[in-house]
Amino acid sequence: MSKVQRGNISEYLPADCMSGSTLWIGGKWEAASDGRTFDTVDPATGNPIISISRAGAGDVQRAVDAAKIGAKVWAELDGMQRAGIMRKAAELIREHRLALGALDSIDSGKAISETSGRNTDGAAGMFDFFSGITDKIRGSVIDMGPKKTGLVEREPYGVVGAISPWNFPMTNATTKIAPILACGNALILKPAEQTPLSALLLAHLLDLAGLPKGVFNVITGLGAEAGAALVEHPDVPKISFTGSTATGRRIAAAAGERLKSVTLELGGKSPFIVFDDADLDTAASGAVTTVFMNQGQTCTSCAKVLVARPLLAAFIEKCKERVAKISIGDPLDPSTDLGPIVSQQQLDRVNRLLSEGVAAGATKLALSAKYSPMVGGCFIAPLIVTDLDPASSLAREEIFGPVMSVSPFDNDEEAYAAANDTEYGLAASVWTSSLARAETARRAINTGIVWINCVHTLSLNTPVPGRKSSGLGSEYGWEAVDNYMRLKTTVTMFGDYKGLF
Ligand code: NAI
Ligand code: MG
Repeated sequence: MSKVQRGNISEYLPADCMSGSTLWIGGKWEAASDGRTFDTVDPATGNPIISISRAGAGDVQRAVDAAKIGAKVWAELDGMQRAGIMRKAAELIREHRLALGALDSIDSGKAISETSGRNTDGAAGMFDFFSGITDKIRGSVIDMGPKKTGLVEREPYGVVGAISPWNFPMTNATTKIAPILACGNALILKPAEQTPLSALLLAHLLDLAGLPKGVFNVITGLGAEAGAALVEHPDVPKISFTGSTATGRRIAAAAGERLKSVTLELGGKSPFIVFDDADLDTAASGAVTTVFMNQGQTCTSCAKVLVARPLLAAFIEKCKERVAKISIGDPLDPSTDLGPIVSQQQLDRVNRLLSEGVAAGATKLALSAKYSPMVGGCFIAPLIVTDLDPASSLAREEIFGPVMSVSPFDNDEEAYAAANDTEYGLAASVWTSSLARAETARRAINTGIVWINCVHTLSLNTPVPGRKSSGLGSEYGWEAVDNYMRLKTTVTMFGDYKGLF
């Protein structure tokens, strides 16, 4: 891997973006109409990276106008033609893996080995997977008796608004872009203000792939301004959002007011249950992976660890041994496993939850890792917390940091009750060698996905449907088509129509 450097940012970005024009509207780079900008920050150093256009409602209007034209052009292509452009996009993403990875690493603090590796593969895979659906979309014919035919078709919405978060900037964006395009829609992406950079290069690559102008647009800006204007726009009938439950609720309320469709992928407080018959080594590997990967900033992180009491001490020891091998430091060093937290604000939030937990009686167990924080960066060393008060914010809220909470249980019922004692219902991971126990557990736990003897094991064809306060709808797999297309019924009569009057 050639060395990625902070000072080389202009090598990775389209030239216009370097001078503060980061709105991609109708196939052109534009500045905000009132000239406003904000800085995106490198969380490893605390330094600003570049100025980003801060879009307002007028800019969103321009993007919607462009997307409406784009949607018409896109709808004129057939599925095979759209698939060809999407496959080309996948190829270009793979070719530009280092630049895309560099942008995500500098902007979000994620390790370069992950952003230019697994994350770019995931982003490209999304285009490959959904290019295979583009030309296979079908409707149905309803038997209505003689001389009548009922036709049910899937139609694109037209213009879709996509709002993405900062925890997996490139992958979260492409998880929306690929299916939205495959279903024949144009879209406007509003990336998170903490991490807008990789979306800018993606816009350039989609352009190179031959995507008609206006089909993909990027609006950079703040959630309460650009994001809210997109949600409120009357010509954007569908919104797809990934982020916090609080913002998801706000978006759902605004969408409800306008009766538009929303897909929401929100937060979680997902359990990780280790039964007394589990393989302890593999379970510890799973726990350390799910809690600490991406510095804990993963929506499906199963960081609420519940362990059968007799295994508790041995389990914690095994986790400590594994954490000791993790290197935390400069995200641009290819040997780094984990970088900083995405922003000072998020780091403050993690520390606040920790001090509230400790005030309510929790004990912090420091873990030794290969920890080399950078000066000015938002670094935090991994931790285990025990003795949690189940009513404390630490026990109830999504932590989104490298903190494993560990609590013992004395029987299976107690484990299921603790697992379900949350407003969330996203994911769960269960470790047991008993088939019967696994079957009981997967039925007892009220989450959209349950992993048995594994965690984060997914394919692009695996839906992750959040329950309770964790979301509405599901992004992956064929189910994504139901999110981004609407039904149209046509009834045709061949003579003999008789009216009531
Ligand atoms: P957020 O949900 O506010 O931000 C996510 C996206 O929503 C960003 O693009 C933001 O600009 C946009 N947004 C914010 N307010 C909006 C509004 N009123 N209308 C339209 N768009 C809006 O998340 P935030 O504040 O950055 O993170 C807070 C917590 O949320 C985290 O600590 C974590 O617990 C959770 N979170 C969960 C994620 C997940 O993967 N489900 C991803 C990011 C955060
Ligand atoms: Mg940033």
